Amino acid sequence: MTDTPAIDLSPDLSKGVAAYLREQENKSLLRFLTCGSVDDGKSTLIGRLLYDTKLIFEDQLATLESDSAKHGTAGEDIDFALLVDGLEAEREQGITIDVAYRFFATNKRKFIVADTPGHEEYTRNMATGASTADLAIVLVDSRQGILRQTRRHSYIASLLGIRHIVLAVNKIDLVGYDKAVFDEHVEAYMAFAADLGFASVQAIPLSARFGDNVTQRSDRTDWYDGPSLLEHLETVPVENLYLDKPLRFPVQYVVRPNLDFRGFAGQIASGAISVGDKVTVAKSGQASTVKQIVTRDGALDTAVEGQAVTIVLEDQLEVSRGNMLVAPDARPHVADQFQAHVIWFDAEPMIPGRRYILRTETDSVSATVTTLKHSVDVNSFARIAAKALQMNEVGVCNLSTQQPIAFDAYRDNRITGNFVLIDRLTNRTVGAGMIDHPLRRAENVHWQALEINRDARAALMGQRPAVVWFTGLSGSGKSTVANNLEKLLHAKGRHTYMLDGDNVRHGLNRDLGFTDEDRVENIRRVAEVARLMADAGLIVLVSFISPFRAERRLARDMMVEGEFLEVFIDTPIEECARRDPKGLYKRAKTGEIKNFTGISSPYEAPEEPELHLLTVGTDPVELALRIEDMLAARANPKDP
Ligand code: ADX
Repeated sequence: MTDTPAIDLSPDLSKGVAAYLREQENKSLLRFLTCGSVDDGKSTLIGRLLYDTKLIFEDQLATLESDSAKHGTAGEDIDFALLVDGLEAEREQGITIDVAYRFFATNKRKFIVADTPGHEEYTRNMATGASTADLAIVLVDSRQGILRQTRRHSYIASLLGIRHIVLAVNKIDLVGYDKAVFDEHVEAYMAFAADLGFASVQAIPLSARFGDNVTQRSDRTDWYDGPSLLEHLETVPVENLYLDKPLRFPVQYVVRPNLDFRGFAGQIASGAISVGDKVTVAKSGQASTVKQIVTRDGALDTAVEGQAVTIVLEDQLEVSRGNMLVAPDARPHVADQFQAHVIWFDAEPMIPGRRYILRTETDSVSATVTTLKHSVDVNSFARIAAKALQMNEVGVCNLSTQQPIAFDAYRDNRITGNFVLIDRLTNRTVGAGMIDHPLRRAENVHWQALEINRDARAALMGQRPAVVWFTGLSGSGKSTVANNLEKLLHAKGRHTYMLDGDNVRHGLNRDLGFTDEDRVENIRRVAEVARLMADAGLIVLVSFISPFRAERRLARDMMVEGEFLEVFIDTPIEECARRDPKGLYKRAKTGEIKNFTGISSPYEAPEEPELHLLTVGTDPVELALRIEDMLAARANPKDP
């Protein structure tokens, strides 16, 4: 051993139990996470840290107990909650579901380590677990050095605003505690990390297995004069980055136990708030004054970042979940379009045009990635042109939300500047985003208020507009049924228009092919056109394979409630292939046509269409009549 003093982990009870606990409460907290491949020794390292410190932690508890008894304070419950409070708060944020947090403490500091298990899902867990982390331990296997994965994790750590990095060059025992190997890896890493803007990068040679330089400095690496891992974790500065920032209080829920009390509950994301302060409601711009700050343990004059409080205002303002109380002179952005860095976790790629649920700290809105500007090569940071984001990729995107949200740029505030994207159908968290800035154009393009509205136009045509959306395999008979329907409607004096896949692909969508991305864009455009036409008063017949549920859902959500009728033209693929009106199935089967629906590209059948029509053995005119009946029933609901 070198002459480093061993870290003293035993509790100092000289000032009594109460004083000790108060000290525990006031100790600074470091949140960190570990990155690395499965074999890099991540769990061994965490296991060792927890073991070496927790053993003592349990000792502390034993001492505390006996000490309490000795001093006759047995009646007074020891409040261990003090020690784990930070952890609870983290859990309450709710979006960190996949990550387990472990808590441990030494005499100097409390620690929360995000335990991010799983290999496949690593990026996801890292991104959801890291948004509040101060430090990341990047593990490297001494025998392998800096890998692509090391770079990706470090890049993501920097995107997430993690300030400090420990480059843990692990398994140093397996390279004979060789300084040259360590130096080589450190040099390679530093060359790469220089551009990532970390406040500190501490490289430590260690062996998680044998404990070298984990909690104590090892004499087997006498050439290394830096701290042990635990020493470093205990002393690395944790800046209270948010205390000096303007107030952000995202409202989690409205507390209304009776008519006389109305409070807004949440956790202060940044800054401080005091009774008498002026605050503004982010989305509406309304202002009021803080009347009371209530907590579980009574009223406060002032509350600061991290505290969970309920705020009562002087005036009765409308502030619902998802809104924020903010400093009047430093307000967040409120916009429905912005640019963000998005990290994608899902096996299904992110495709522009798709709709997702975007969830911020407290808000939840429907959102679309309108443009994928580029993805980022994690090795060179080069921008790469991309049409979709694959699993574990990072891209810069423009997003558009259905309602405006209140946010800050992520570099200004990691809590109010971050969001996750959730798949509408599976409910999986599929991506995480860091907002760069609002888009100006969102501020400058306003809806033009029109005096002749859709009702007036429809009334003049004497009909109720509708979008009849035909979906089904190629050759299933969509266009045939749609044609027959249009003839029937036309004969009755209805104003109609037919949008047919093959035709629209010759004009508006001639630039699109049959990859998933192109099909998504194909449907998005056609849904927009159908919406405009329905707005003009028409009955629109849309005949597209539209193979994906997500886009049909998108189309449905765009239309006026009750005016979207999904008609599933259900013909078994064997029958479509037998009919093969354009000879496409034959060519698809030989591989001549790629991405062919039903053969080499999926078709997701509707689950709840308004009409499910089986075509085999039924005349297309009869099917068209059934749709016409449904339209008529809808247009005149009160008619007998
Ligand atoms: S969609 O999937 O994007 O909705 P759309 O309805 O516009 O497809 O176009 C389908 C038509 O394009 C088919 O009826 C067929 O005539 C032709 N087509 C050419 N290649 C393909 C393919 N790979 N998959 C499906 N249809 C194709």
